[in-house]
Amino acid sequence: MNQKLLLILFLFQLILAEDKPDAKRNFTEVCTAHGYLVEVHTVTTADNYILTLFRVPRKANQPANPNQRVAFLQHGLLDCADTWIMDLPNSPGFQMVDAGYDVWFGNSRGNYHSLGHTTLDPWKNLTYWNFTWQHMADYDIPAVIPYVLQTTGQQKLTYIGHSQGTIQMFAHLAANPSFIQNINLFIALAPIGTVRYLKIDYFRLLKRIPLFEIMQKHGAGAFLPYDKAPGLNYDFCELFAGACDDVIMLLTDLTTGNDNTEMFPTILAHEAGGTSVYNMMHWQQMTNYLVYKVQKYDYGQAENLVVYGQKEAPVYNFAKIPGPIALFFGTDDRLADPTDGAWLRGILPAKSIVYQEETLDFGHLTFVWGKNMSYWDTVIGLANQYSSSSENLFLQAD
Ligand SMILES: *[C@@H]1O[C@H](CO)[C@@H](O)[C@H](O)[C@H]1NC(C)=O
Ligand SMILES: *[C@@H]1O[C@H](CO)[C@@H](O)[C@H](O)[C@H]1NC(C)=O
Ligand SMILES: *[C@@H]1O[C@H](CO)[C@@H](O)[C@H](O)[C@H]1NC(C)=O
Ligand SMILES: *[C@@H]1O[C@H](CO)[C@@H](O)[C@H](O)[C@H]1NC(C)=O
Repeated sequence: MNQKLLLILFLFQLILAEDKPDAKRNFTEVCTAHGYLVEVHTVTTADNYILTLFRVPRKANQPANPNQRVAFLQHGLLDCADTWIMDLPNSPGFQMVDAGYDVWFGNSRGNYHSLGHTTLDPWKNLTYWNFTWQHMADYDIPAVIPYVLQTTGQQKLTYIGHSQGTIQMFAHLAANPSFIQNINLFIALAPIGTVRYLKIDYFRLLKRIPLFEIMQKHGAGAFLPYDKAPGLNYDFCELFAGACDDVIMLLTDLTTGNDNTEMFPTILAHEAGGTSVYNMMHWQQMTNYLVYKVQKYDYGQAENLVVYGQKEAPVYNFAKIPGPIALFFGTDDRLADPTDGAWLRGILPAKSIVYQEETLDFGHLTFVWGKNMSYWDTVIGLANQYSSSSENLFLQAD
């Protein structure tokens, strides 16, 4: 039954892809086809991962502006940079460029754009996949943000994260509060501190069935690796049809009527981005906490001692996170549940939160794939207000 559903989805994707040319274009081709300039950059992290950044500075027919404001967009779990430019004509990424920003798109380690490493081949050595979101917080963030600032010659940028793109910045700021000096404003969409009340069925089911541990025992390092099976991962889906169905539910957020279903064939052709089994295990651990906390990956006491020098995995102190931060919650979000959102709002210092809203009927992915993206006007308004390009400093000095 689930396999049938998948087959239907797949055929649907193939048929509709015919009149959805972006389904067959990759990130750079989509940009070019819609008249935007695009550059590809790579950044090597302190732990030797090579990440791909995309930069869309402006439309090809527009003049360069040396003092352009910079925005950095970071995708969420199992996603990739493409998520920000699929929802035409409302895609948040292109709207940001149209608003005058030099827009950079991050790709988390392990997604199909960012499979580089100075020595490890992801398909030959499992050690490559030995990371979770905490490594994105500890290594990816402090590599990519300074690179973008240095390349653009700006002092600060506006960071916009979705889902896992928020927890990696929260965690980095908790550990390294002075990093906020690089950020004009941190805009957090479907923000994640932890996911105790997550309502995604397969995560709940997996409290009892240790799927990720089984995958790992059988030598699987990657979870939904697009690179091995472009489109959707049918090997995985044949083996674990139930889970796969829910992954698609998670990816497509089918519960909400607010998502742009017309674009799903295009979106699915670019998804899933892929991540590590370890990362999925970390998310699974987060659903099992009995109290609210944001904790590093728990390897078990003996291994924790080796890795962290203590028996318990370290906890991030979210009460220390500096602002300015703008929070956008969705009332229908099954992953960043409103109950967990309330905890997050309460634990962040009140003075760090400069704006918050609960967007009605938004699910987890409506923030990037919505039909009605009018909330993005608020995002641009906030970004403008907190931007400190020299142009803006001049206006303020006036
Ligand atoms: C997109 O495809 C073109 C043509 O095959 C290729 O040159 C380019 O590197 C690809 N871009 C990405 C981001 O994969
Ligand atoms: C994988 O990489 C690690 C770290 O560099 C190395 O110790 C190990 O021998 C490698 N394993 C294989 C199978 O190549
Ligand atoms: C991953 O890292 C942990 C902690 O350092 C270690 O126990 C484990 O053996 C590593 N696994 C692989 C496949 O490298
Ligand atoms: C889009 O949403 C906003 C509120 O966020 C609402 O005011 C507006 O009427 C909606 N537009 C459409 C076309 O539904």
